[in-house]
Amino acid sequence: MLKLAVLVSGGGTNLQAIIDSIEAGRIQQTEIRLIISSNPRAYAIERGKKHKIKTMVIDKEGFPSEDERTDAMINALTAEEIDLIILAGYMSILQPRVVRAFRGRIINIHPSLIPKYCGAGFYGKRVHQAVLDGGEGETGVTVHYVDEGVDTGPVILQEKVPVMAGDSVELLADRVLNTEHKLLTEAINLVIKGLA
Ligand code: GRF
Repeated sequence: MLKLAVLVSGGGTNLQAIIDSIEAGRIQQTEIRLIISSNPRAYAIERGKKHKIKTMVIDKEGFPSEDERTDAMINALTAEEIDLIILAGYMSILQPRVVRAFRGRIINIHPSLIPKYCGAGFYGKRVHQAVLDGGEGETGVTVHYVDEGVDTGPVILQEKVPVMAGDSVELLADRVLNTEHKLLTEAINLVIKGLA
């Protein structure tokens, strides 16, 4: 049984997509052992609790120094014998010590066609606003391995999403999010084939 940890910060719709795919058998021989949130108020935590998944908050409040937060994360991931870490709407930067400890076993989903509209400051709705401001005819979703950079690791999967005339940020964000939910399951299945 492959053990997943999902790192979250917000609504958790990508987390929910993984939960639903496991329960529907679209992802097999896999369980979510741990959810770590950087935000104590993240609705993603409620989603995990509803499915009786262990959740923990690692934030500045609970762990004032960066080293304490990094130690807490590595200890929790190690204690649960995590095989694959998924950043799903995780809005903090993963410390290099965590990347090194789990190199090749951390993936992230980003709501653009990397290398476009990614890196520091490009997250959430800011990505879609920049795509609209750039007059793009299409955008998309990227799932990639996490390295020490921001949105810079090797790409696993990408899928294009059309930008429609008159799109608002909200409309575009929803269309991209739907593709995220689908692509994340496809990417997890690809990665776990390599880990199994
Ligand atoms: C969304 O902007 C999504 O594009 C990105 O993280 C944000 C929140 O996702 N991956 P979620 O609903 O918390 O999974």
